[in-house]
Amino acid sequence: MKSSSVFSPHSSFAWSIYHLNVFVLIAMGVILLLVSGLVLYASWRFRAIGGEGTPKPNFGNLRLELMYTILPAMLLAAIMVFTVRTMQSSDPPQGAHPDDVEVVGHQWWWEFRYPQAGFVTANEVHIPVDTPMLFGLGAADVIHDFWVPELGRKEDMIPGTHGRIWLAADRANTYSGACAEFCGVEHAWMRIRVIAQSKQEYASWLHQQQQTPALPASGEAAAGLNLFQQLSCANCHTIRGTGTSGTIGPDLTHLASRETLAAGRLNNTPDQLYLWLQQPDIYKPGSHMPNLHLTDMQLHSIVAYLETLR
Ligand code: CUA
Repeated sequence: MKSSSVFSPHSSFAWSIYHLNVFVLIAMGVILLLVSGLVLYASWRFRAIGGEGTPKPNFGNLRLELMYTILPAMLLAAIMVFTVRTMQSSDPPQGAHPDDVEVVGHQWWWEFRYPQAGFVTANEVHIPVDTPMLFGLGAADVIHDFWVPELGRKEDMIPGTHGRIWLAADRANTYSGACAEFCGVEHAWMRIRVIAQSKQEYASWLHQQQQTPALPASGEAAAGLNLFQQLSCANCHTIRGTGTSGTIGPDLTHLASRETLAAGRLNNTPDQLYLWLQQPDIYKPGSHMPNLHLTDMQLHSIVAYLETLR
């Protein structure tokens, strides 16, 4: 797994959140040290010695009361001003700006739609480096939360609403994120991979994703395509050009071009794809991907076909 920390910001949005975070952490650290220091000092300095009774309480110290009212109020005001400025610096645009990527949270995977380019992919989203991308956020079933700590804000995805965040990356790399709102048994396996690429690489990825893969004419892969169309795979998945249009599970049109399976649960290798198709209920218990009890031959054919979807 790639690193993923709020302490290594990689976009202007993440930097502004980082500065706020550090400011609040330092302020809180100073207060923590001051208060614990005073408590320790008072416990030692005014400890009971010999047979002294309860010490006399100190009422009505106006200066002290003003100090412990005004100082925290000033600090809270400073945090509020800093917070509002941070929010403004990463606010999504109001009005008619179109979304660059539409994200839909599902139990337990991510749908990424590229409305301008006209295709849909899953779990791994590509962005061009140094280019703020407007992400539209929605959910298909329950509340999820989109969070890639190094690149931008985190935001809840609430069914029936449309949220928005900016996401950008200052360096070509793979950034990981995850669902940050408990959404059911496989919440932990709802990983996000943001693959930030140079503008040329991104353009060629877009172009490749727009293509409709060629249908295998013969051999094991052709048998796999037949199985895919005839078994219940087609009820839930879409592979463009095959007459399938299921929308319950991820669009698999370019499955073989992805690095992971099942929202980060497995690596996308032929062996692991086989295991996933054989026993999805073992790797992701509770997932809507059913165990179809496929035979070894069926599994090999379907894997051979899916591997052609580059
Ligand atoms: Cu989706 Cu947690």
